[in-house]
Amino acid sequence: MTEQHTVIFQPSGRRGQVPHGIGLRAAARSLGVDIESICAENSTCGKCKVLIQEGTFERYGITSSQEHLSPPNVEETAYLADHKQALTTRGWQPSQVRLACQAKVWGDLLVEVPEESRRDKQIVRKAATERQIEIKPSIRKYLVELNPPTIANPKADWERLASGIATSIQLVRYGEPNLPRPGDLTIDYACLRTLSQTLRDSNWRVTVSVWQDKEVVRIEPGLMDTLYGAAVDIGTTTIALYLCNLENGAILAAESEMNPQIVYGEDVMSRIQYSIVHKEGLRTLHKAIIRALNQLLMRAARQAGISARDVQELVVAGNTTMHHLFLNLPPQHLGHAPFTSTVYRSLDVKARELGLAINESANVHVLPTIGAFIGADTTGVLLAEEPHTQDENWLIMDVGTNAEIVLGNRRRLICASTPTGPALEGAHIEHGMRAAPGAIERVVIGEKTLEPAYRVIGEEQWNAGQPKGICGSAILDAVAEMYRVGILDARGKFRSDLLENPRIRRRSNAMEYVIAFAAETSIGADIVVTQKDVRQIQLAKGALYVAARTLLKQFGLESPDKILLAGAFGMYIDKYNALSIGMIPACPPENIFAVGNSAGDGARIALLNVDKRREAQEVAARVTRYELPNDPDFQAQFIESMNFPERTKVRRHSNE
Ligand code: FES
Repeated sequence: MTEQHTVIFQPSGRRGQVPHGIGLRAAARSLGVDIESICAENSTCGKCKVLIQEGTFERYGITSSQEHLSPPNVEETAYLADHKQALTTRGWQPSQVRLACQAKVWGDLLVEVPEESRRDKQIVRKAATERQIEIKPSIRKYLVELNPPTIANPKADWERLASGIATSIQLVRYGEPNLPRPGDLTIDYACLRTLSQTLRDSNWRVTVSVWQDKEVVRIEPGLMDTLYGAAVDIGTTTIALYLCNLENGAILAAESEMNPQIVYGEDVMSRIQYSIVHKEGLRTLHKAIIRALNQLLMRAARQAGISARDVQELVVAGNTTMHHLFLNLPPQHLGHAPFTSTVYRSLDVKARELGLAINESANVHVLPTIGAFIGADTTGVLLAEEPHTQDENWLIMDVGTNAEIVLGNRRRLICASTPTGPALEGAHIEHGMRAAPGAIERVVIGEKTLEPAYRVIGEEQWNAGQPKGICGSAILDAVAEMYRVGILDARGKFRSDLLENPRIRRRSNAMEYVIAFAAETSIGADIVVTQKDVRQIQLAKGALYVAARTLLKQFGLESPDKILLAGAFGMYIDKYNALSIGMIPACPPENIFAVGNSAGDGARIALLNVDKRREAQEVAARVTRYELPNDPDFQAQFIESMNFPERTKVRRHSNE
């Protein structure tokens, strides 16, 4: 019987007995530890580096030594000598390092598999609950070395490469089911056009990028082992882009800017309208978003020190109108009953067909939409927050100009959409502005004096700086505080008996409250909250509240177990104030979380893990759309929800 040795891999802790003479990479695989390779074990890529621990390890009951491995062969010795400096820079002792594809097990071993050599890499995503994202991109790279053609073997370049790739895939990923054969592989036309020259220029040694195990989307000369992709969330107001290393999940650059389509209409309805009434409307809107994305890609690439052409895949989330405009699909049927989308399912489109300045053969994956007003951004939120894996009932509110609200658990998910208007983003408010330097972002009001204190973006101290306006979070604060201290009654009306206070006054027949007098501001005018502003907030908060309540009613619930506030607004609103004015349903404050740009996170997750795209498709198809306007109680409840609830003291945590 073959002699057996104990091998332990760290940090996974996997251990077991392996036969004498087995390759170390094969031994790892037999114990469930997947070590990287892109060179078909030719000792040229260096992806399989491991560190051998020397000594007696009593807790494992073994003695591990370099001598328990076969000595480095010529190829491995050459690789380690060539890369000595790089190994030292990583803080490793070069004498500790071996290539797992070449070393054979001759005795007991304790082997450390560094993060970069692990195929099952994971990153931790901070969310309402911390979660691991397994790194499993749709593209894999393979280093392929071919024999040049001869008279005796004049095989065509593509067939020669396809055989080489298939062999490489088999060797790199042995044991996996359904690995492709040469005949299963295709090559993108743009790649095919460069193939002959690249092969000859590189002396028949190339790195190929294979998408979804079936299509070659890039051929680079020599060894090129870096892999990049980008995730995008196209919002009605803002576009956010994350440039990622697809091998380790790191975000290399995050860029955002205003959606340039805003000049053609502030909200989705006005953009749909623009595409209908202008002959070239759709084309104009499509071009605007593509241009902006290309600029963001260039900026992000520059920041990461790469070219935008190195980006090998893009994953896109966005509301259904943005989704249609990005894809150059006519959006007009989204704008009228029965509100029909062109497509719900996820899509894979070539970057060049959309005019995107990334690798022209690259795939653009667009997440599935759920309905005309519940888009791929909501799918992204679901993918990021995973309410479909929970036993508890989670209420997720993605608040922007429009709010999408999802309620559910692992058995059932329902969602609704409601317009909230631009007030929560600081628009259509007397002194409203977007959250930017100079905007008041927090307001509190003294209970007895009715004197305000405010904090301005860019200033550490309260009442410091010269404000020029007030952003959405502070308008909400101001309204909540004005209600708390009794400036407003439960219907949101100013109390006229407070007119002797210098902060409260009547102007043009309407009441207003002065947050900052002209002398303190940079605009030379008082910054005020008017009765009309209060009304705008009441409309927005009423819409949100009634939507959430209506969904809860479908579940027979008074309140959810957890509320997740997604979107930029969720990051800045004060949850205690949101509760006190009845903007969100009752829920213990410790169970309310701001989760940031979940839609963008969802796109990033789908970029990093190809299996998550299937999950996105399944979850999007499972969600039931609830049409709020069809609910018989909706109108009456909406009017009711505009009022403020009874004043209660919501206890703040001392550190908030
Ligand atoms: S050097 Fe490429 S797999 Fe070992």
